[in-house]
Amino acid sequence: MAADVTAAGGAGASPVWLNEKARAKVNLTLAVLGRRADGFHLLDSLVAFADIADELSLEPGPGLSLEVYGSRAKEAGAVADNLVLKAAKALAERHDGLTLGHFRLDKRLPAAAGIGGGSSDAAAALRLIARANELPLTDEKVLAAARATGSDVPVCLQVVGRWMRDAGETLSAPVPLPPLPAVLLNPGVATPTADVFRTLALPAGTAISPDLSLAAAIEGEKSPTALIRHLDRGRNDLEPAALVLRPAIGEALAVLRGQPTCRLARMSGSGATVFGLFETAEAAVAARQAIAERRPGWWVVDTVIG
Ligand code: C5P
Repeated sequence: MAADVTAAGGAGASPVWLNEKARAKVNLTLAVLGRRADGFHLLDSLVAFADIADELSLEPGPGLSLEVYGSRAKEAGAVADNLVLKAAKALAERHDGLTLGHFRLDKRLPAAAGIGGGSSDAAAALRLIARANELPLTDEKVLAAARATGSDVPVCLQVVGRWMRDAGETLSAPVPLPPLPAVLLNPGVATPTADVFRTLALPAGTAISPDLSLAAAIEGEKSPTALIRHLDRGRNDLEPAALVLRPAIGEALAVLRGQPTCRLARMSGSGATVFGLFETAEAAVAARQAIAERRPGWWVVDTVIG
């Protein structure tokens, strides 16, 4: 996790900004095991992080404000509804006398895209407030604020690969993964998470057991090639529902699968972003270039997941 401090304009009364990267999360696998009585779905998902990110800065001080800029700022919606503010308020409600301040968000990741842009921003906000107030990230109130902000926020708090279970509240110990060269591809269709889950139409009170053998096979795997083979046994159970709602996701998967060096292509989260895994960074770069030429309107990046 990258974190640094910058002082603009030299010594004295210059504002001190704390900076955090809000990295894209990728659901390498996502099994839906059931639906709780409260409507939330029970998940078993291996979450990892890509090396592309939004950038969030905090100037600690009185009050709470947020400014959003950058190539994707328009898609991020109304500033008042931004999860950065929701997370900051959720922590301030639980912790008396916290210093908050002014946030600046450089929005680069597509919104409502299944790569946790908003959740990762919220988690970065909690990390910044925790740093400004010398709170550990394991503080129960920080964790509670993360849970209250959204299902994906707890797993984004510490930016390490983990199995996310239940409705995101239960996290495994860190799962070290070898760096996986990847391409992320989004066909430009926002996909609201709630709509995808609703399309599953699972009855409440149902639950099946997780496939623990997959977690056991992945544990300690150091070779990207072998890891991709294990991941191929997994799936994303939200993919069929998302494909019904947004057929462009099927096109994006087909484009990735059409790349001869792509070893696995799958949707992340509730979509619409899909990821392709490759054995080498060179193969990922070449695939990204080929796709960008073919689909100039789509968002496509090469990255490393791990
Ligand atoms: O928690 P978050 O705000 O990301 O969830 C958005 C919506 O997605 C929820 O309101 C719920 O309808 C659905 N959801 C679900 N089960 C989950 C996570 C989200 O049904 N585990």
